[in-house]
Amino acid sequence: MLQRPRRNRKSEVIRQMVQETHVSAANLIFPLFIVDGTFQKTEVASMPGIYRYSIDNLLREIESCLKLGLNSFDLFPNIEESLKDTMATESHRDDSLYLRAIREVKKNFPEACVITDVAMDPYSSDGHDGIVKNGEILNDETLEVLGKMALAHAQCGADIIAPSDMMDGRVGYIRKVLDENSFTNVSIMSYSAKYASAFYGPFRDALNSAPKFGDKKTYQMNPANQREALIEANLDELEGADFLMIKPALPYLDVIKLIKDNTELPVAAYNVSGEYAMIKAAIQKGWLNEQRAITEVLTSIRRAGATAILTYHAKEVLENKWL
Ligand code: PBG
Repeated sequence: MLQRPRRNRKSEVIRQMVQETHVSAANLIFPLFIVDGTFQKTEVASMPGIYRYSIDNLLREIESCLKLGLNSFDLFPNIEESLKDTMATESHRDDSLYLRAIREVKKNFPEACVITDVAMDPYSSDGHDGIVKNGEILNDETLEVLGKMALAHAQCGADIIAPSDMMDGRVGYIRKVLDENSFTNVSIMSYSAKYASAFYGPFRDALNSAPKFGDKKTYQMNPANQREALIEANLDELEGADFLMIKPALPYLDVIKLIKDNTELPVAAYNVSGEYAMIKAAIQKGWLNEQRAITEVLTSIRRAGATAILTYHAKEVLENKWL
């Protein structure tokens, strides 16, 4: 035999020498859930180890992440039901929980990268990402709300705006609103290919943001489609996105690879709540080795082509020095 691939696997030193993919702290983005009040830190039942923090504790949590070299955060608010309405007005009210949180984080940790979520669902009494009229999710009318939300986030100091609603034209619309208001340096990380997935369940528990009727299939993508992801990614690129994101990650590694092969922009992937819950549940049962399962998942997402990974595992992999 001339070729014996096993020679390159014979020792730890050689295995590391030929390793093609690495995950480092710089690639990781940590999603964090926020609730109103003080001294709050409540665990999300379906996401062991993940908490909803009031702003005071959020600042402590971010400080401890920064010490680990984890510098990027994606914030999501749990909004009290009584503050929700059909137009998601709480999403751009000056003194809202979310806007206060962004300001506080940027004031205390100007060096941290704050990513903000632009979509109506946490603030909508319908639990949908767009304005609902007669059971239909309106597209163009929703853009105006998204523009207000994005502008409010930028004014509070957001570094990257992440529209997660899958309305057509939102990236271009938001880019225009930001530029017209002199926020030319605020980036857009677009959820380009976001699928109508079963894996968002625990996230909706965390935020109490599940749709009150129907599903999200008229705006989020059909899990059966790959080529359609290219249409979405190309449009977002033309409309001015700085990053293209695929979501969920693990069941869509082929889509990550496809988009990576068709863009020069950095590609991000969201290792979502249901993926986290699945791994944690198996670990709790003693069915998987925690360190090996989690590092394998993150490495796979990187190998598929994601530069950045949004993951609930971000802090634990650094705390435990698993990378
Ligand atoms: C909503 C939004 C969702 C997630 C991020 N932004 C859920 C949804 O579309 O219903 C899911 C994240 C996760 O599951 O971890 N705009």
